[in-house]
Amino acid sequence: MTTVYTIEDLQKAVSISKNEGGTIGFVPTMGALHEGHISLVKKCCEQNNVCVVSIFVNPTQFNNQADLEKYPRTIKQDTNILEAAGAGIVFVPSVEEIYPEPDNRQFDFGQLDKVMEGKFRPGHFNGVAQVVSRLFGIVKPDKAYFGEKDFQQLAIIRQMVRQFNIPVEIVPMPIRREESGLAMSSRNQRLSENQKTEAINIYRVLSESRKLYNQKTVEEVRAKVIEDINKIDSLEVEYFEIVDGNTLQQISAWKDSNYIVGCITVFCGDVRLIDNIVYS
Ligand code: PAJ
Repeated sequence: MTTVYTIEDLQKAVSISKNEGGTIGFVPTMGALHEGHISLVKKCCEQNNVCVVSIFVNPTQFNNQADLEKYPRTIKQDTNILEAAGAGIVFVPSVEEIYPEPDNRQFDFGQLDKVMEGKFRPGHFNGVAQVVSRLFGIVKPDKAYFGEKDFQQLAIIRQMVRQFNIPVEIVPMPIRREESGLAMSSRNQRLSENQKTEAINIYRVLSESRKLYNQKTVEEVRAKVIEDINKIDSLEVEYFEIVDGNTLQQISAWKDSNYIVGCITVFCGDVRLIDNIVYS
């Protein structure tokens, strides 16, 4: 495994594989890697001749300076895990390398980024699009891997790829969970043992709500999920929306869509956790 820090070195390393006629797979990350990330890396290694992983805590997608500063950074451990997982090239650029000058581009994703994460974290997806479009331009991957845990991010990346005709195939990957059901996240490191036990309720309540599909109205299910999670001491729902999985717009009846997903964000203390569940 090669670790590179500059665009020039990255492109040299990638071109060796390209010249051999191999396909380039790419997994963008912000580090603090866990089994969720590693499932993407393993799939990427399986499907490509070389797997490039980037580790870059992108400042433009944080709308809160404190959140950016608190974001866990575990680079040594990350590179060890990546080596064991079979990654070929790890790209660890500095902020200046990615943004030699400020990126003022404003993306337009229509209604996709006006809801949920987009509504509660203004500018977040614009920052994600800035960094991912730059990384795609640098790595020029054939395939890129994104987790369904960040459901809205995946929809926005797909939209960006369509809008700008970026020649990359986006490969979605299922949510990896702890045995308890808690969706794996770099932010879980910041939960106390007690908070972790309480956070398990997010997936428990979501799973139980699936049984109410077509039994209660969409609004009843939405209200029940929020109420049941808010009953737990340290949990506070920021939003829970039941949406069409393609347009991300709320549905009012189960018959409104044949691809229905419930997307949630919950504060556990000051740690913001996201999760989602497919209803149909
Ligand atoms: P990060 O949160 O590090 O996530 C990197 C990738 O891992 C994303 O595609 C995310 O959806 C996926 N992932 C995270 N937890 C997962 C889990 N439990 N199961 C499956 N996949 C999971 O998402 C970002 O970084 C950034 O926004 C990025 C795309 C790198 C742009 O900065």
